[in-house]
Amino acid sequence: MSTDSGSTSTDTGSVSTDSVGANIVPRTFSGIQPTGDVPHLGNYIGALRNWVDLQESTDGIYCIVDLHALSVPREPGEVGRATLQMARVMLAVGIDPQRSILFVQSRVREHSELAWFMQCVTAFGELRRMTQFKDKSEANEFVSSALFTYPTLMAADIVLYDTDIVPVGDDQRQHLEIARDVSQRFNSRFGEVLVVPEARIAEVGARIMDLQSPGNKMSKSSDSILGTVTLADTEDEIARKFKRAVTDNDADVRFDPVTKPGVSNLLSILGAAKRTDPVTEAENYTQYGPLKADTAEAVIEMFRPIQKRMAELDDATVTELLGVGEDRAREKASEVMERVRRAVGLF
Ligand code: AMP
Ligand code: TRP
Repeated sequence: MSTDSGSTSTDTGSVSTDSVGANIVPRTFSGIQPTGDVPHLGNYIGALRNWVDLQESTDGIYCIVDLHALSVPREPGEVGRATLQMARVMLAVGIDPQRSILFVQSRVREHSELAWFMQCVTAFGELRRMTQFKDKSEANEFVSSALFTYPTLMAADIVLYDTDIVPVGDDQRQHLEIARDVSQRFNSRFGEVLVVPEARIAEVGARIMDLQSPGNKMSKSSDSILGTVTLADTEDEIARKFKRAVTDNDADVRFDPVTKPGVSNLLSILGAAKRTDPVTEAENYTQYGPLKADTAEAVIEMFRPIQKRMAELDDATVTELLGVGEDRAREKASEVMERVRRAVGLF
């Protein structure tokens, strides 16, 4: 859907379609793996916060993709615990269960079911080209066939809800292309059954860099604890990490990611936290000290209400809210699944 109605309709609990797959309010779907790590500043600014913002203008469905997490070896119980933790974080950052649907992938069986149909219209060669598969299969000793077919489950996740918009990070671009290709192929074989989704890759804040090595993306696998700010950090820890952030030797505050990656990263973070623009922010500073202090303060302010909600949300409340989301998700998913079965013409 190309038009953004900007509608603030609160009636997102019902299916807002006027005919098959034509959403009145555009539908957003995204998924996040429950990995057990607390999200870092890059995850928040580059992904989670966009989902929260999209709730204003679109009908949001957000899924904790636990089946995807099983594509690499896990200990019994590990994925379940991480799922509860991820749900708590998502609610705390502002995914509103009244407005959006928040649920766990494995609880809605249609995801696995539709994934099979998607596999049947996906070519082996298409999957073999996926760079994420190549990277992950080189890094792991045991390479499951699920790791290979992963993009077909992801395509199923998306088309199961007649999704228009998929907000993702740049690393998911290729997977979104495959989701589009296979849904188009399905439609050309079986009729106009599936909505072909579009990727929404945010540019602002899409690459928050490591505070200690600003040439690398902030990442959970970083060697340096000082380089990564997470939602689990205390205010003192956040202040200390920004104070020790790597900048450069000339004391000139300018937004120039190529020649001044450290300073530019601070300006990007400050701009993202204050919802202003890094170039304008640069005009307010002549020294690194105050820039670091203000950036730390802005991040602390941004994280404070989230951390408070994280502490308040108990397991029973989170579980109950996921149950509500699950029922609403299943209702939509079963409709699309039925449409697919009919189009294919099964007995
Ligand atoms: P990951 O932790 O790599 O699974 O990423 C989860 C989400 O956060 C994805 O949408 C990523 O694109 C996004 N993300 C991860 N690291 C960063 C970063 N340093 N800057 C901006 N976005 C990021
Ligand atoms: N593959 C995505 C990631 O690793 C997670 C994901 C699974 C997803 N299904 C999805 C994202 C559907 C968007 C839409 O980040």
